[in-house]
Amino acid sequence: MLTKKIEDALNHHLTEEFESAYLYLSVASYFSSIELPGFAHWMKIQYEEEMYHTMKFYDFLELRDGRVRLAGLKAPKVDWASPIEAFSQVFAHEQLISSKIHELVDLSLKEKDHATNNFLQWFVSEQVEEEATTKGILSRLKMIGDSTSSLLMLDQELSKRVFVPPEK
Ligand code: FEO
Repeated sequence: MLTKKIEDALNHHLTEEFESAYLYLSVASYFSSIELPGFAHWMKIQYEEEMYHTMKFYDFLELRDGRVRLAGLKAPKVDWASPIEAFSQVFAHEQLISSKIHELVDLSLKEKDHATNNFLQWFVSEQVEEEATTKGILSRLKMIGDSTSSLLMLDQELSKRVFVPPEK
């Protein structure tokens, strides 16, 4: 059984994951609009990952006899000035989500909810990967600078990403 505080916090975070998915779908559309289909594909896979994260919170709430309370989603930004600006936002967003997961971990400790704490540990590790991956692509974009041919090569590479559910 969840305390009201934990149930509310998990519901709040479920919305954060949904909003991550929504943001990344918007970033995917931006990349399509500037003719970088590989980047767009990569972001659509990222959207799928975020929906996977969202559903983990959904399932955990139900498993613990909590109620899922869906909230309205913030409309994401639609346009960015450059691929670097878009990926800077993606990386910053992952850092923000990491800090929110850490706040949830702190709350689970405060409330002595060991099951929720155990559930959240998966996200603590996942966020390390999420930050490393998005920072890696951002760094490569910075190295590429104004080279269109290098940008197109990276686009080609990103087009190969396949969605693998994170726990498989
Ligand atoms: Fe669900 Fe990319 O954090």
